[in-house]
This record gives sequence, structure tokens and C-alpha cells, in this order.
Amino acid sequence: MKYAKNVKFVDDYRQIIDNPEEISRIREDIKAGDVYIFKRLVDPEKIIKIREYLGGVGRNSLPNYHAIKAGAPNFHRLNIWDDRAYVKGCFHQFVFFPWNQDVFNFFQLFRDGYYLKNLINGLPRDKFLGAEPEDDCTARLSFQFYPKAVGGLNKHSDPVDHHQLTVPLLIMSKKGVDFTSGGMYVEAENGELIFGDDLCDIGDVLFFNAVIPHGVMRIDEGKSEDWLSFEGRWMMIFATNKLAGNASISDAVDLENKS
Ligand SMILES: [Fe+2]
Repeated sequence: MKYAKNVKFVDDYRQIIDNPEEISRIREDIKAGDVYIFKRLVDPEKIIKIREYLGGVGRNSLPNYHAIKAGAPNFHRLNIWDDRAYVKGCFHQFVFFPWNQDVFNFFQLFRDGYYLKNLINGLPRDKFLGAEPEDDCTARLSFQFYPKAVGGLNKHSDPVDHHQLTVPLLIMSKKGVDFTSGGMYVEAENGELIFGDDLCDIGDVLFFNAVIPHGVMRIDEGKSEDWLSFEGRWMMIFATNKLAGNASISDAVDLENKS
């Protein structure tokens, strides 16, 4: 098992994106376990607008799941410790695919995050971002909202394969403002948990080796449960997923298996 090592910050990601030497240095660091925080990859004001929009969608339409396959619709769903999930968790998820149009033009807005992910992974920067799946995989934006009192995600390890080394996370809530306790962590070798939310502002993106054990500690335990208030913690995952039925890439592994 690989564990988190040093935390490193990048203040200006634009200096990195066109610099192959920097990219390969970061790739080696991340392979070795370093955690990178790219500051302000997305405008925080835009993120507040996105949160409001998704909250409205979540309040006013029925949640439903759709499998990952070519042409799948954008959707939102609840996952309340669902037994069918590879990793058990409790959150409200909003999913967007590159072949569907959306009001924020998300894949354009988050383009640089995917470019960095692909380049760090050693892939062409546009890989998996087209209107058709590539190599039986596709980019997929996964917004996750963890409601106060109940939101959380078991410690797990994500697959690292030809499609990805790191699964970047966009920070969309501020600890101490939007929620007080719990949040996203990665595990260090000595068992210490490094809480990403303590180190990040809204708009920052975390990059780490996807096999490092990580999860979301219960948000604001002890408060009252209220899914419709959308009080809690938001984040967005720059996911690259295999299509349903692709058996060549392994699945995420739940390291707690509790609910
Ligand atoms: Fe994960």
C-alpha cells in the first residue's frame, strides 16, 4: 500500500501546464506519494453559482442512477450507504458527461484541470474529453455533496491504470465556514490523516496518487439531518471512468466496508 508523503503547493498552474519538465517532476512526486495542491484553478465565485444551481436541481427533481455508457444522460442521485456501490458512502451526486451540453459548459470551464490530470498521467491532454468514449473510458464530472450530520465516504483506494494515476478533487466548500468538522483526508504512512480541507480554499484542486487510502470523514456529526438545506460540504471529482462492463480496469476498493 502507498501512503501520502509531503504536501506541496503550486501557486500558478499556468506555469506548469506547458512545461513538460515540471509535469514529469510532479508525476514522479505523485507516484512516490506526494500530495499537490494547485491553488485557485477555478474562480471561487463561479463555484458558488454552481453550488446554487446544483442545489436547485437537487431540491426540485427526482434523483435517479444511470450506468456509465456512451450517450448516458447527465443525472443526479442519492447514495445512502448503498450496498451496490464499490465504496460505501452517503452523499448526493451530480454527474456530467462530455457528450451532453450543460448550462455552465463544464468541460470547458474545468478543461485545465483535466489537461493537468492527463498530462501528469502521461496522456495527451485531450484524452477522454471527446464526445465519444476512448479506450472504453470517458471523462465524467462528479460533483458530490456531503450533507451535514450524515455525509461521509469510507476510506478507499481507487484504481490506477492506463487511464489515470491521480484523481484530482476540486474544493468547493470552506471548512470553518460551510461546515465545521470532518472532511476529505488522505492517509500518511504513520496512520496520520491529512485533511485536505484544512489546507485548501474554494477553487483549489488536490492531486494525489489514487491508490493512497482516502475518504471523507463524517461531516458535522451531531447536527440535524436535512438534505434539502444543502448545508454541508461540496466537492467535484475530475473523474475518468471505465464504461460499465469494462473488465480490464479494476474497481475501487473499500478499505472499511462499514456503513
Ligand atoms: Fe476516491
